[in-house]
Amino acid sequence: MSNAKLIFDGEEYELPVIEGTEGERAIDIAELRKQTRAITLDYGYANTGSCESEITFINGEEGILRYRGYPIEQVAAGADFTEVCYLLIYGHLPNASELAEFQRLLAYHTLLHEDMKKFFEGYPPTAHPMAILSSMVSSLSAYYPEGQGDEDVELNIARLLAKTPTIAAFSYKKTMGQPFIYPRNDLSYCANFLHMMFAVPAEPYVVPQVLAKALNMLLILHADHEQNCSTSTVRMVGSSQANLFASIGAGINALWGPLHGGANQRVIEMLERIRNDGGDVEKYVRMAKDRDSGFRLMGFGHRVYKNFDPRARILKRSADDVLEALGVDDPLLDIAKQLEAVALEDEFFVERKLYPNVDFYSGIIYRAMGIPTQMFTVMFALGRLPGWIAQWKEMREDPRTRINRPRQVYTGATARDWVKLGDR
Ligand code: ACO
Repeated sequence: MSNAKLIFDGEEYELPVIEGTEGERAIDIAELRKQTRAITLDYGYANTGSCESEITFINGEEGILRYRGYPIEQVAAGADFTEVCYLLIYGHLPNASELAEFQRLLAYHTLLHEDMKKFFEGYPPTAHPMAILSSMVSSLSAYYPEGQGDEDVELNIARLLAKTPTIAAFSYKKTMGQPFIYPRNDLSYCANFLHMMFAVPAEPYVVPQVLAKALNMLLILHADHEQNCSTSTVRMVGSSQANLFASIGAGINALWGPLHGGANQRVIEMLERIRNDGGDVEKYVRMAKDRDSGFRLMGFGHRVYKNFDPRARILKRSADDVLEALGVDDPLLDIAKQLEAVALEDEFFVERKLYPNVDFYSGIIYRAMGIPTQMFTVMFALGRLPGWIAQWKEMREDPRTRINRPRQVYTGATARDWVKLGDR
């Protein structure tokens, strides 16, 4: 193990250097405050590692993403989403019997407690489905409290993966004023979700294979992304030993923001705005470069990817295929491609290494599949579930985990005497 040297206030300190399996290096500052009385300051944590993790590897400079070592391109091309869930959570590819048992568990826990259906009655029909999703997922802890044993946690993991699609589909049915469609155990994970979304009791509904396949790919591409904002939230909340449902409910809320998973909804709204404004993409690229406009190109830029986002590459190719297979001709896809082409030639974007991210093309595919715009971030959450669960589990099982508690540099008023109300 090598060391880094720090000279501070004239004193020299040695800090251990940790190296990951892909050669990434980190200066371990665990003893820094004890030794120097100083802390580090890192707005947005862009230089701060919060844990060691074996789950997902990203090399943002080279556009590499791997789940447990498997390249995203291979995973997205051939896997079933449930296999990816198993891989992320348990660390190895399931054999046939492990997978069959896992899929059986997921199929047999899809029903919601009947009392939970009453919750939906209380929301206004205009409620954003992310508001419903996060509170319903947190509410699962009221029905399935965590006991002392590992089996509770394992069962709750299966319950969470199984019931979240049901919650998501019911929240959509609520906004449509349609009756809830119950889950079906004979359908695959993705087909079951689509059935609950699009079937109505008045007529039979057969899930089109092309939809189930597209959904499977989309969920896989979103399944994990190491220590992003929502995952760090899950770990942060979980570090206080909060239960699985409470931790993931918090992660869902973190995902909702437009700078994170909420961007997929904003991308479509932006493309619609451009179309309604005459389709002048250059005007919007100009606006995005002007700080005073307050406008950003949604679906562009990433904290880690500085070359390309491999998920966006896969999605761009798939968008053409899926839309063709569905017989959908969406002018927003053309606008998106034009916008990308103009931005990628523009010095402002080139200099800052701003490329389309996963959210740029995903919305166009979801739209073609008939998923309403307000549901896009919910779809992201369904995909990210196994990643959140895997990261929560890894955090729980790591003996080095301590409650997450950053420090601060205080810049407020120094000590002063309280002034009584009448004297102010
Ligand atoms: N449009 C225009 N300019 C941008 C954009 C954008 N989408 N993204 C970054 N920039 C500019 C910034 O203005 C800044 O310019 P400056 O150096 O002249 O001040 C520079 O690029 C760096 O941007 P930061 O905001 O500092 O980058 P950060 O790493 O903090 O943010 C983020 C990353 C949040 C993704 C940002 O690029 C963004 O807001 N993108 C749009 C929202 C989006 O698509 N989010 C989804 C991200 S992927 C995901 O979460 C699934």
